[in-house]
Amino acid sequence: MNVLVIGAGYVGLVTGVCFAIRGHNVTCLDADSRKVAALQRGKVPIYEPGLETSLHQALQLGTISFTDQPNDSTWSSEIILISVDTPSDHRGACDLSKIEQVAEQIGKQITTNACVVLKSTAPIGTCKHIHQIVTQNLAERGLAHLSVDVASNPEFLKEGSAVSDFTDPDRVIIGVDRPATAQKLVQLYAPFPWAGERLLITDIASSEMIKYASNAMLATRISFMNEIAELCETCDADIEEVRRGMSADRRIGPEFLRVGIGFGGSCLPKDLRALAGMSSKAGINAQLIETVSRINVSRPEKFARKIEAYFESFGGIAGRELAIWGLTFKANTDDMRESPTLPIIEHLQRAGAQLRLFDPIATKNAQAALSQSGVGSVNIRWCESAELAAQSADGIVLLTDWPEFLRLDFHRIKDQMEHLAIFDGRNQLAHASANLQKLGFDYLRIGKTPNLSETEVPYSKLGKVLTS
Ligand code: UGA
Repeated sequence: MNVLVIGAGYVGLVTGVCFAIRGHNVTCLDADSRKVAALQRGKVPIYEPGLETSLHQALQLGTISFTDQPNDSTWSSEIILISVDTPSDHRGACDLSKIEQVAEQIGKQITTNACVVLKSTAPIGTCKHIHQIVTQNLAERGLAHLSVDVASNPEFLKEGSAVSDFTDPDRVIIGVDRPATAQKLVQLYAPFPWAGERLLITDIASSEMIKYASNAMLATRISFMNEIAELCETCDADIEEVRRGMSADRRIGPEFLRVGIGFGGSCLPKDLRALAGMSSKAGINAQLIETVSRINVSRPEKFARKIEAYFESFGGIAGRELAIWGLTFKANTDDMRESPTLPIIEHLQRAGAQLRLFDPIATKNAQAALSQSGVGSVNIRWCESAELAAQSADGIVLLTDWPEFLRLDFHRIKDQMEHLAIFDGRNQLAHASANLQKLGFDYLRIGKTPNLSETEVPYSKLGKVLTS
């Protein structure tokens, strides 16, 4: 099929590339001419594992092209996918201006029947809104006889694993208002071997809601666990053990139960705000959703205060050097949007700590985010490795779950530190806590009273030891 993807951001690019590899003829349209030129040369402007390799494959196949100057043949594509961004506006609602501009452009340019598919996350009713804009523009051009279908096809890609999420999804949701549109989308996904079982066809409004409700459910699980973690800290329970026990219940399952400094990124926080806004507009008091957000917003501050409180017994945090490991909202991405690391850095900076920052790939984006957020550069030093950040430090603050932090030689690191403390905001080193303590580190993490002595063999392995 000839597919036009409007918006070559993270979603549009992954979608376009994955369809192109499967043999569709894809044109990606983006207003940013520098980005278009880079993509034509095979350069991906974001960090997304596997995406650049897949792009090269598609370029070699000759099934993908990029443009900022669409022509008539671009607009006659059988499928037009909209994947422009929908940021929060100043009230927290979803800003639809880019979608509206694209809908207008479609209505002003197409000369044949069209199937428009909305991939961007936008409030329930947006597909209907797009349909109105396109048909109104067609009518103004005297082309009211053209038929325009608008379908909803939300994305469930996670940054860092977007390519594999696209090529091996749990499900693909397709929201349509007539069977003929569903047929076109079934054809679009037909090159994937799973298309028979994993396509779930529904009405448009439900499809739009599935996207929001799914993200809200994931966020709810995280905030729930973070709240239970707080309680664990007051009653000698260990959240990692609690998580292990809960995950084993098939009704609950293991995903999205990891505790930490809160969820961030460009999706979960924004989608919760939009859902709360939609509810309030509908006269519904979205108590759960608002509480989930509130718990999340409080996480970074609580973690930062824990670090501050620790140093009280050592004469205070002011002047202390702290290594900050990881700056992005999660590992495997260079995205700093709504990263919970930012308020932690701001708090520690305000408390007078000297911060030595390191992130494996996001230094440039982090520098920009810090200067935009007003944190600036006071008491901040950028380091080229986690080990260099820890040199002469009084503590390590682990904020992003980069797997490389697990492979570091803490034996060597400890010899270069002034004071041995690790504040683990992701419980990433929890399994090694006994060893870290043996090395002399004070190890503080989420959901466990810090001064509890760790068992020699972690409880999670104890069952095996006792039965072997
Ligand atoms: C999220 C959803 O997972 C995707 O399905 C969805 O398509 C995407 O939003 C979107 O709407 O575009 P993403 O924002 O890339 O994907 O990141 P997640 O992997 O969901 O992580 C979000 C945040 O939750 C991160 O800060 C992460 O560290 C945190 N998290 C995740 C936890 O704190 N605990 C967990 O158990 C899982």
